[in-house]
Amino acid sequence: MSERIFNEGILSGRVAFVTGGGTGITGGVARAFAESGASVALVSRKMDHLQPAADAINEAGGKALAVTADVRQPEEVEKAVAQTIEHFGKIDIVVNGAAGNFLCNAEQLSPNGFGTVVDIDLKGTFNVCRATFAQLKEHRGQILNISATLHYLGTPMQLHVSAAKAGVDALTRNLAVEWGRYGIRVNGIAPGPIEDTEGMKRLVPEMFRAHLRKNIPLGRFGRIADIEKAAVFICSDAASFINGHVLVVDGGQWLAGNRIAG
Ligand code: COA
Repeated sequence: MSERIFNEGILSGRVAFVTGGGTGITGGVARAFAESGASVALVSRKMDHLQPAADAINEAGGKALAVTADVRQPEEVEKAVAQTIEHFGKIDIVVNGAAGNFLCNAEQLSPNGFGTVVDIDLKGTFNVCRATFAQLKEHRGQILNISATLHYLGTPMQLHVSAAKAGVDALTRNLAVEWGRYGIRVNGIAPGPIEDTEGMKRLVPEMFRAHLRKNIPLGRFGRIADIEKAAVFICSDAASFINGHVLVVDGGQWLAGNRIAG
């Protein structure tokens, strides 16, 4: 995030459990949370992604812990939650960012291919919400689910991800209603095409990029920093009455109807 937009320490005293926290969008969100005063647990499958990200945050004066867990495995998630509580004392923000994606035509997609993405994105989000509920209830915490805009319209080669992310948005709305009574806010961010991510490199072939950019009303691709700022806002007290909302951060792309990627 680095440029200062919010008050210093806007998230100080909070402990965030960020899945997919080593790289890409959620790597940026974790770093922005740390710059805003939160302690962050970076959670994903591979320590070789996590440790450098945690080291960078710690070297910059933040507080980060790298924890390995596959969000598809409820027992691993529970262990990661326990490790985080042991290290930081509590959890009061959860960011569900762990996701899998690849391009595949629907007719070529295997049951396991479809199921793998649903397992990571949707069931993984549920597993993490479930495992952190007691902490969130105790600390009147909050959840931020990262979804997408793919399922707002039909998106070629993204059936599996669209189905999974539609489910994630359903979790956001249902949990907001069920857990609001405990003071837990549950919101989402739906990013559009974000240029400085691995997803953009892998999922949007170079030849489509100029066309795609032209059709984004704001005339540019998103950047990880755009999602960081939205995430800090939505997890801060500035958003204390926002619950069950999925904030689209896409420069107006989905409304313009261009469905190559999002
Ligand atoms: N096209 C079609 N099917 C694919 C595929 C592709 N590009 N990539 C994976 N699959 C299918 C596999 O064929 C397999 O199905 P099968 O058993 O019927 O063959 C199934 O998905 C599981 O694949 P596997 O590689 O065993 O799973 P994994 O758990 O190791 O990884 C992903 C799954 C989705 C996470 C993998 O694509 C990946 O590692 N992606 C990079 C990270 C990523 O997606 N980050 C998100 C950036 S937006």
